[in-house]
Amino acid sequence: MMESFNRFGLMINGKVVRTPIALAPMAGIVDAGYVLARAPHIGAAFIGGYATDDRTMEAARTIAAAGDRREFLYDDPVTELTTQIQKMKDSDVVLGLNLRGSSPASFKAIAESLGDTVVYEIDAHCRQIPMIEAGCGEYYLHNLKELTAVIRALKSVDVTVSVKIRAGVAADDRRLAKKLWSAGADILHIDLMDFGSAKLRQIRNSCPLMLIANNSINSFDVMKEMFSHGADLVSLGRNSDIRTLAGLDAAITRYTDDQGWYNSPKQLCRGGDVRALTFCCMPVKDCPLIPTLKRIGISREDFLKIKTDAVKGTLLEGGQHTCFGSLVWCCKTSSPCMFRDMTMQQEGLTSKEYMRLKRDLSDAIMDCVFHDMPHDDAG
Ligand SMILES: Cc1cc2nc3c(=O)[nH]c(=O)nc-3n(C[C@H](O)[C@H](O)[C@H](O)COP(=O)(O)O)c2cc1C
Ligand code: SF4
Ligand code: SF4
Repeated sequence: MMESFNRFGLMINGKVVRTPIALAPMAGIVDAGYVLARAPHIGAAFIGGYATDDRTMEAARTIAAAGDRREFLYDDPVTELTTQIQKMKDSDVVLGLNLRGSSPASFKAIAESLGDTVVYEIDAHCRQIPMIEAGCGEYYLHNLKELTAVIRALKSVDVTVSVKIRAGVAADDRRLAKKLWSAGADILHIDLMDFGSAKLRQIRNSCPLMLIANNSINSFDVMKEMFSHGADLVSLGRNSDIRTLAGLDAAITRYTDDQGWYNSPKQLCRGGDVRALTFCCMPVKDCPLIPTLKRIGISREDFLKIKTDAVKGTLLEGGQHTCFGSLVWCCKTSSPCMFRDMTMQQEGLTSKEYMRLKRDLSDAIMDCVFHDMPHDDAG
């Protein structure tokens, strides 16, 4: 697992994530057996959705009885979920439970019974009418006060919380992301629908949460597009066959071993998200950097200080023959530059190590950008 951590640097719920590919939940389909059959090719899995209380169990029965959707049906959610967790006990796949519940108390009771070895994912995604009428799924995206109350209830028992949403349902996804962050969520699992990477970039620029991008991720190009616009992981539901998962896992592993940073952003002036500040020049010219700094409320002077302080004592500090006298201001390795490459050669820095250092710098910048959590007005 150390090898995986060195490669991707990803941890969820205190566990190393072997590869940034997850299984998305599909009710009646994705359970422990489904995960174990795919375990060699995934790093995390969200099983379910599982109903957690009388109202949602009744909704699941109504949906299943209608005949066109499958559901997991049982009388006791704790017994069912304990069985599922038990089946996963020897697996290194990080496990999340996608849960339907109609009140904060329902989620909290389940978390108290099952403990902190799993991630609790709130299903704020389901649009089946019986579930919405039971006060869960998409209902939560129209009733943010209730959603944030569920997050706070789960956090009160100190577990890792993910929220599964569908983009474009809440009135403003940026505001939604900020609210979920300030309520204490750890992960945002986003079905991007047809909005694609532009929506993902908006959300990346709004909060520091771990982001899982979802919907129609079926090729390396689509996966890379998500990673370069802010995704930490991608998840697959309908395309989660072994062949697709194995291909994506092999491709991202190869790419990362070659390039160093699996989800490096595009340069800011090429549509990159806020993490791309790591590749930005000194703020001296008229380019997208200046409005970006204004938007995130960081002065030019502070930007200079944040970047130069963060690389003190590292190999990014040097580089007097580069445009701005230090590699801290240098571009992504995909932009060819003989001055940067010469400097790296003199310093004995490989392009993979350079990208790793840029990733560390990006983390430091993100810490500053999202230092102040928005006020949680419990709404
Ligand atoms: C049959 C089926 C059942 C689903 N059940 C759930 C669910 O219980 N909870 C949930 O959050 N999403 C559920 N989803 C949504 C998926 O997790 C995913 O967001 C959606 O299918 C888009 O991603 P994909 O293109 O990878 O399938 C379901 C999707 C399908 C097709
Ligand atoms: S500072 Fe450089 S990299 Fe950043 S947006 Fe401007 S031109 Fe592009
Ligand atoms: S030296 Fe090359 S890599 Fe560095 S900022 Fe100038 S153009 Fe970009």
